[in-house]
Amino acid sequence: MTGSIAPPADASQGELGRWFLRKFLRSPGSVASFWPSSRHLADAMLRGVELPEGSAVLEFGPGTGPFTDAIAARLTPQHHYLGIDRDADFVALLRVRHPRLEVAAADVFELPRLLADRPHLRPAAVICGLPLVAMPKPEVDGLLETVRDLLPAGGTFRTFSYLHTVVNPNQWSLKQRMRRIFPKFTVHGPVLRNLPPAFVFEGRVY
Ligand SMILES: C[S@@+](CC[C@H](N)C(=O)[O-])C[C@H]1O[C@@H](n2cnc3c(N)ncnc32)[C@H](O)[C@@H]1O
Repeated sequence: MTGSIAPPADASQGELGRWFLRKFLRSPGSVASFWPSSRHLADAMLRGVELPEGSAVLEFGPGTGPFTDAIAARLTPQHHYLGIDRDADFVALLRVRHPRLEVAAADVFELPRLLADRPHLRPAAVICGLPLVAMPKPEVDGLLETVRDLLPAGGTFRTFSYLHTVVNPNQWSLKQRMRRIFPKFTVHGPVLRNLPPAFVFEGRVY
């Protein structure tokens, strides 16, 4: 986004939240939520995720990095990480907040090219902050199929969707499509300590 300045790397959660809100007001369709996810939702997104030594975590749409913080706390020097966000401001912020993690300024639909350029990555988990419910269904399904095909047995894909959109046919549709695409589909939550409360949707590969 033009004309904006990323907050300092040591910004408080409140400062990050206010900056995120301003980003949302400028690009509501892409940022899609008005406040960053809480650490409680981040914990739920990571709970029970298996990360074998040497494997990689992919993160789609990290934004200001609430899930990135939780992922970073789980990574050893033997793990790898690739974050993908198309918003250059978020990418710039994350590169300062997490200088050891690789964050690509790219559209998530460039995933096959991004992975082809990084043959050392063996993703075991994909943590997704994208507004999948609001994105075009054929493209989302293609992305989810790509993710399913690259994950090993035991691999997991996690995303979240807000409690209040439970009445939205697009949320119902996303669940049905994840059920069809992944060998196992589970809904966790809702996580109430998030603004707004949210479910975690998990697709697993066996
Ligand atoms: C709902 S915010 C989530 C941010 C963060 N994960 C959180 O939970 O607070 C969605 C994020 O996805 C990014 N995004 C939206 N569409 C994208 C796309 N097609 N490719 C890459 N990033 C995208 C936005 O820039 C934003 O950072």
